[in-house]
Amino acid sequence: MCGIVGYIGSQQAAGIILDGLARLEYRGYDSAGMAICDGEKIRISKSVGRLKVLEELTHNGETMPGCCGIGHTRWATHGEPNTTNAHPHYNTDETIAIVHNGIIENYLALKEMLTKKGYQFQTDTDTEVVAQLLDYYYDGDPMMAITRMLHRVQGSYALGILFAQHPDRLFAVRKNSPLIVGKSPNGYLIASDVPAILKYTRNVFYVDNQEIAVLKQDQLNFYNIDGDEIEKEEVTIEWDANAAEKGGYEHFMLKEMYEQPKTVTDTLLPRIKDGDIVIDELNMTDDELAAVKKIHIVACGSAYHAGVTGKYVIEGMARVPVEVDLASEFRYRNPILEEGAMVVVISQSGETADTLAALRESKERGFKVLAVVNVVGSSIAREADSVLYTWAGPEIAVATTKAYSAQLIAMYLLAMKLAKVRGKIDDVELSAMIEDLKCIPSQIEMLLGNEKRIQRFANRYVGAKDIFFIGRGIDYSIALEGSLKLKEISYVHSEAYAAGELKHGTISLIEEGTLVTAIATQPELYPKTVSNIVQVKARGAFVLAVTTEGNDDIEKNADYVIYIPQTNPYFMNSLAIIPLQMFGYYVSVGKGFDADHPRNLAKSVTVE
Ligand code: AGP
Repeated sequence: MCGIVGYIGSQQAAGIILDGLARLEYRGYDSAGMAICDGEKIRISKSVGRLKVLEELTHNGETMPGCCGIGHTRWATHGEPNTTNAHPHYNTDETIAIVHNGIIENYLALKEMLTKKGYQFQTDTDTEVVAQLLDYYYDGDPMMAITRMLHRVQGSYALGILFAQHPDRLFAVRKNSPLIVGKSPNGYLIASDVPAILKYTRNVFYVDNQEIAVLKQDQLNFYNIDGDEIEKEEVTIEWDANAAEKGGYEHFMLKEMYEQPKTVTDTLLPRIKDGDIVIDELNMTDDELAAVKKIHIVACGSAYHAGVTGKYVIEGMARVPVEVDLASEFRYRNPILEEGAMVVVISQSGETADTLAALRESKERGFKVLAVVNVVGSSIAREADSVLYTWAGPEIAVATTKAYSAQLIAMYLLAMKLAKVRGKIDDVELSAMIEDLKCIPSQIEMLLGNEKRIQRFANRYVGAKDIFFIGRGIDYSIALEGSLKLKEISYVHSEAYAAGELKHGTISLIEEGTLVTAIATQPELYPKTVSNIVQVKARGAFVLAVTTEGNDDIEKNADYVIYIPQTNPYFMNSLAIIPLQMFGYYVSVGKGFDADHPRNLAKSVTVE
């Protein structure tokens, strides 16, 4: 998620903007920049890396005098992180400057139109296209240029705009990307999020879709997309700064759990075109995909668990053999990689040392590596032969939730693509799967609504010593992730077991009252898992069952049941994991721990 800050008033703008951008650092970024209008011209400074670089470059803003400006921290989605692609962006004659958070979906068509009209472009960003489009429509009236631009662009945007010929004004507009306007004693501000402006004001206006804000030193007006003035309600922010970064949630982990519907949507929809799965990033033709003889999935932690799900889904759907390895094992076990094999590494951070080593080992042996990564420009993304990005945005909490959910989507997309090109599913089956996937975000939303019920249940187990998770097939991969979510943030010992394996030893650990979470979402395995529930119940276990709506009979044996909506069995992981994430989170919170920063753990394990 990019960060936007803007200011116009009686003070120097640069320092206020740098301070505001610093308060948005939690959103994650890889480059930063700002544009300041000194009354005649617009100066731009941009840098890659931490905000400190921009602060040093501009001597904390002293080299950029002026009382009107816009600033930006960029989380790269399209276009590498570098100073060229960093925001702000100019039009050709540098009389317009713009910062942008979002994605202009039709920017290529607009770029083509403008190129035919003689425009040239310095970057490969969609944002520069908007700057040039404003130039194209600008004939001295900035509002006219803005409203005409808004009628042409499609996609999501929060924009801060400066016109050198109107140095007394700052313009802002949004659609689907957040933007607020703050009213302070010394002027007006715009920002992507509340933390950036809390130091200056708690009086804000939330800009709604396609509304235009026009800020002057001592005046603020709002207009609709047709240029008609509108009234907006002023709101007072009650949050403290710390809470504001989390959008009012107690922890980033909870906030990121609630972002999962958007994460799934953002990762899924750009790869569904005309009823087909289109993953251009694979850099492989359909024939090359159909020729893949075996897939090696290599990852760590939750990414590994997503890979285990990938194994069940890809083998089940596409009938391609899949081997899943922990990266720390793969890199030292002298793996057997045979001709026709494809290696897939999964990593949220793109910096995990063991996973990076596995990638390098595979490439040294001459095998192509596909990386499923969340951080654009990360080491794994740069070194892989192809990258399937999970558009989860920056994930702050150490315990992954939204990125894991996006990794599952990546696994489904890969499986469906392989199954289609290999003739294992037809158009009708593919279409039905796509419709099921499109329902996942709203189904996750519905499951998140169980929060209070799960919190009450979790409170019973803050004193637990051992908690087991069992399942068969895809349910086993869900058990793996559910167990890790619990233990890594609550420090309660937990194990995930293939339910059919219990009788080979672990069942001896079950005592009176031991909590066993049984995941039973796979129709063909359901009766078997129910019999495993009976087995552990006979030894005194308290059974929490996670199963699909309609399996009411499970209540004869399970003590507590969480139902999830029906979907394609291959996709059940995306739904069943939601209550398990919530359970782990509330056991941690119930024990008084900081769920975002669990002891001994780092967000990215960049060492062996
Ligand atoms: C999961 O909640 C943990 N944070 C950890 O297991 C993580 O999944 C693992 O370290 C892999 O990290 P990566 O996805 O950034 O490679």
